[in-house]
Amino acid sequence: MSESRLPVVLDVDTGIDDAMAIWYALASPRLDVQGITTCFGNGGIEVTTRNTLLAVELSGRHVPVYQGAAHPLASAAIDTAEAFHGQNGLGEAQLPPVQGRAERQPAAEYLAAALEGGSTTLVATARLTNLALALALYPALARRIPRVVVMGGAAFCPGNVTPVAEANIWGDPEAAALVFQSGIPITMVGLDVTHQACLADRHLGSPAGQSARPYAEVLAAASEFYMRAYNPGAAPGDRTCPLHDPLAVAVAEDPSVITTRPYAVTVSLHDPATRGMTVVDARSRVPAPPHPIDVAVAVDAPRFVQEFCRRLGYRADP
Ligand code: BDR
Ligand code: CA
Repeated sequence: MSESRLPVVLDVDTGIDDAMAIWYALASPRLDVQGITTCFGNGGIEVTTRNTLLAVELSGRHVPVYQGAAHPLASAAIDTAEAFHGQNGLGEAQLPPVQGRAERQPAAEYLAAALEGGSTTLVATARLTNLALALALYPALARRIPRVVVMGGAAFCPGNVTPVAEANIWGDPEAAALVFQSGIPITMVGLDVTHQACLADRHLGSPAGQSARPYAEVLAAASEFYMRAYNPGAAPGDRTCPLHDPLAVAVAEDPSVITTRPYAVTVSLHDPATRGMTVVDARSRVPAPPHPIDVAVAVDAPRFVQEFCRRLGYRADP
């Protein structure tokens, strides 16, 4: 890979929008995807790892995949998202068998080794469990990581699992709290912006574009499932669905696609009503925190969605 590309590791729970994010990243002229770690989340860890391996294989690229956490830090139980991603995690698309397998090294150890060099950005589009485990193993790691782009949280908008909590934070709030307190430079790409960065019905069905891509059939079926899940009962035409995880990749590639503000962010842990909430202190008179989180507050959605469509073979806007 050319030296001018930004080295990144993706931490995913594939998932329809994670698969889109993987394909978006692997088609990037500016990113060098060095490895991909998997976490439970949209499905169990076996499902998310299988889907990640498959997404990589269908891209025609060779990127090592490392299996990670099967459950959150503080519990053996997991919350999955079959309603949005299907039982197989890819919208019940017909999946070809996976040829390869995950590497032997556990995800947390790989993350520590990959990020320790100080030049690799992590794009985390799942629960933050793997990174929290890596920090627990190697506390000094926090000072080495240049940036983590987190798809997660809801700063000034409702949550998507509870009234206030977003899925990636809700799924392991203890891990998120640990990561947010670690001092690592973090860009929080939350629902405030991902709900503005949407694929629409008009983008679907571009046979000329998508059929050129080996993942075309899986992507077409998964996109339709995802669209239906986000628009229950709606007829095709006016439907939209948020591109959560691809937007996080786009931010790693080009931070200018969003506007951020530096805020203190606390993850609520102990109150059942607010557990998993990202509490953002936007008061003007409080002193700046020592390690603010860069919270995305606006996005150039047309620019991002256009590039997303072009890269994955959807029908781009004229
Ligand atoms: C996030 O939750 C997961 O279901 C999606 O893949 C995305 O990472 C959105 O809240
Ligand atoms: Ca995800």
